[in-house]
Amino acid sequence: MHITQILVQLISMAIMNESSINSTAQTSNPFEIHISDHCGGLLLGLLSFMKTINIWHCITSLLVIFVAYDQFIYLRKKGPLAGPKGKIPLVGPFLQALYPDFEAYLVQWASGPLSCVGIFHKFVVLASDRDLARTVFNSSAYVEPCVVPVAKDLMQPSAWVFLNGKAHVEFRKGLNGLFTRKSLDSYLPTQEKVLCDYFNQFVTASLSNNGKALPFMSHFREINCALSCRTFVGDYISDKAVKKIANDYYCITAALELVNVPLSLYVPYSKVWLGKRAAEVVLNEFTKCAAASKVNMASGGKPACIIDRWVLNMIESQVYRDKIAAGIEDPEKPTVLLRQFSDFEIAQTMFTFLFASQDASSSATTWMFQIMAQRPDVLDRVREENLEARGGDRNGAIEIKMLESMTYTNAVVREILRYRPPVIFVPYLATRDFPVTPKYTVAKGDMIIPSCYPSLHDPEVYPQPDTFDPDRWISGSATVKSKNWLVFGTGPHNCIAQQYVQMTMTGMLGKASLELDWKHHATSKSEEIKVFATLFPMDDCQLSFKKRE
Ligand code: HEM
Repeated sequence: MHITQILVQLISMAIMNESSINSTAQTSNPFEIHISDHCGGLLLGLLSFMKTINIWHCITSLLVIFVAYDQFIYLRKKGPLAGPKGKIPLVGPFLQALYPDFEAYLVQWASGPLSCVGIFHKFVVLASDRDLARTVFNSSAYVEPCVVPVAKDLMQPSAWVFLNGKAHVEFRKGLNGLFTRKSLDSYLPTQEKVLCDYFNQFVTASLSNNGKALPFMSHFREINCALSCRTFVGDYISDKAVKKIANDYYCITAALELVNVPLSLYVPYSKVWLGKRAAEVVLNEFTKCAAASKVNMASGGKPACIIDRWVLNMIESQVYRDKIAAGIEDPEKPTVLLRQFSDFEIAQTMFTFLFASQDASSSATTWMFQIMAQRPDVLDRVREENLEARGGDRNGAIEIKMLESMTYTNAVVREILRYRPPVIFVPYLATRDFPVTPKYTVAKGDMIIPSCYPSLHDPEVYPQPDTFDPDRWISGSATVKSKNWLVFGTGPHNCIAQQYVQMTMTGMLGKASLELDWKHHATSKSEEIKVFATLFPMDDCQLSFKKRE
């Protein structure tokens, strides 16, 4: 029996009962009779009706209506956009969301400047065209970053990266000081120590494996986690905790699907559930670091990491306020006046840095080592430039001036980021109806995703875009055509750490080039691209390392 027939039958039974009630409703206690007769009649009718219906027909009919409604909503939202002509009933291409396929993204981007897909309850619009992508990045009145929907659960909704408009600008102003040239210079000794430790580990791992190929992607994830933790929270964190975070971080990355299975946060041992637990460990560790830094800085300690610098800025702001309150005239004013942030707020902010950096930096590092092993011509030039910049002393310490002076090594890093951009798109959420073009309005609550990859592989701007060519940044026109440079996004939420990334990668590549020899053991999967939040070689980068004589 079709659901509409069931409804008609129910309504007609209710009407029949109503008329019988009306006919008996003139007794001494009309109210009582009315209620009991009404309920009783309806109940009896319902019971006898229940006997006649088949529960499976009922469920099927409900499902058919639901699927039809879901399809109708998808097609109405799709309008003129490119994209599948219909939605896979209810779930959409959720398997692709679980196991993203880079080739499928290429097809989707090629399908039109604006295309769409519906996954579970989410309608997602992808902007592949450069100018449309830039419009989205720059439309904070209509969109807010959502990274991926589960990011708010992992970092908690109060994290500063989810702020928008004035509140976001103000918060970010207070952080800019942590990424100035002077600050970056002060992080270099700590970073160089981490590089030394891990380069030794790379060599040891290869030696223990008799120089045979090992998948190095996980090593590169770990070195980046250690670099970040030491730069962000210095020696306030133990080696053991860094190692645990590096291991557990895998669970956080695994949870970052474009659209998660609904309610999976509450399902024990699901990816999202495990990711949330790993995030809590990081937040706890960083909260302890914030408390320790406050004690150290208050007793005159020298700032050695990002957290120290931020706490020091807070102390300086407080000193300034105290002087004003005490009536001292014209005290020296800090560049930005900060309020006092709680230990948890500091930890949460450091976690946003780790969250933003870990996957992207690991991806960039992985491709860097793979591509350099494949291109000895490029690596030789990097070695030559690095040795010269250190005045011939290959153990010379990394300094910011030296890093900035190396035109070719910087061009190599830039080309790695263009050729294999770690972040291929950045999901945003429409906070209200967003007329992204005169013909299409993204509805409030839908996702709109500006893509970075197509702009970075645009043959008009980067001739032969699938060729790795660092010289395009020196003698070519790539630097001038900066509108396509979307590696770090653009607009109010663009990556706060662009110089930091350029500096860290240039430092890492230079030091590795002088101290290490490494070989790529190519497999049939080496050039295939795996999407694990960011891009990696499908075979996890098969390498072997040895110390350079
Ligand atoms: C290869 C490395 C990296 C790449 C490719 C990268 C790329 C990006 C991209 C595409 C965005 C989004 C921009 C937008 O929405 O317009 C972003 C945001 C951000 N990145 Fe990076 N990033 C990298 C490393 C880092 C590192 C090392 C840090 C921290 C030290 C960091 C901190 C951030 C933060 C905090 C944001 C959000 C900024 C905001 O909301 O105002 N990133 N990054």
